[in-house]
Amino acid sequence: MITTTALRREMEVKLRGLVPAFELAWKAELVAEIRELKQQRNALILGHNYMEPALFHFVPDFNGDSLDLSRRAAATDKDVIVFCGVRFMAETAKILSPTKQVLLPSLEAGCSLAAGISAADVRRLRQQFPGLPVVTYVNSYADVKAESDICCTSGNAAQVVASLDSDSVIFIPDEYLARNVARETGKHIIIPRNGSLASYDSSQANLMVAWPGRCEVHEQFQTEDVAMIRDKFPDALVLAHPECSPAVTDAADFTGSTSAMIRFVEKSPARRYALLTECSMGDNIAAAHPEKEMLRLCSFRCPHMKQITLEETRDALLHEQYEIDLPEDVRVRAAVAVQRMLEIG
Ligand code: 13P
Ligand code: SF4
Repeated sequence: MITTTALRREMEVKLRGLVPAFELAWKAELVAEIRELKQQRNALILGHNYMEPALFHFVPDFNGDSLDLSRRAAATDKDVIVFCGVRFMAETAKILSPTKQVLLPSLEAGCSLAAGISAADVRRLRQQFPGLPVVTYVNSYADVKAESDICCTSGNAAQVVASLDSDSVIFIPDEYLARNVARETGKHIIIPRNGSLASYDSSQANLMVAWPGRCEVHEQFQTEDVAMIRDKFPDALVLAHPECSPAVTDAADFTGSTSAMIRFVEKSPARRYALLTECSMGDNIAAAHPEKEMLRLCSFRCPHMKQITLEETRDALLHEQYEIDLPEDVRVRAAVAVQRMLEIG
């Protein structure tokens, strides 16, 4: 087994310039403790791409975007899954692995998108648009997924929409993802404001009925940010997450899920990149690819993802907290929507 001193040296090499050296002494001890507890508990640790670099590179068994991690959660034979991400992701793990103990290290790890829609809202949309299939972005809670026909992630949203028999769909809860997907799939989008769809024309085909939910991180990026990057760093490629507005994704060189952005940087011969997404992504890619330059202009951190620290992850394993528990009828209905998505690929 690797000693804490050796682990600290390894962390110093990988995270040089990204995490202050004095912090790494403490972080190496925590990582060693987490690795030991993980063995004792027969646990699998999953880490979203937005985790801070020390946690991201030295703790999880698997890293990835929402889609990668859902697949990993469905396939494990471990007794315990510790989800270093936010609540809706841990719920998806529980939906897919009901017999496992799923732990989310912080009760504060929510999401503005998931909090912005309820199961009753989905039922109302269904009443208003009878017969339209409901496509629900996985950034939603289990009771909302349970009211849905199929889920999608940022990595497969257009593919999921295109797979449906119906040319019109309800697509919730992210307005900007819906706008980006509507453009890609050639749909006409309508969005209720204050619960009203006054301008709705029921004879229209190829409709996408969306919901006015926003990611509090990605909604902040503006086209002016892209213009500033182009002006100051003309050789940098700009990558955006599809939760950014269509004006921003239009201005970017590439749009994709967090894992798609990583793959893009890995394959591209360009040297410099600016990422329009949560700040830790740039640091995590910089640590893995020191030959690439990630512009560190980012000022938008997700307050929910940042609740997941090494300390909270250690405590999750130590005290078996905080366990995800879902009503079985909700879980079973949500599982149908998630499994349908996974079958699409
Ligand atoms: P990804 O599925 O692209 O990783 O996105 C998750 C998320 O929370 C984006 O804000
Ligand atoms: Fe939710 Fe946005 Fe944070 Fe992702 S980055 S968890 S969508 S608030």
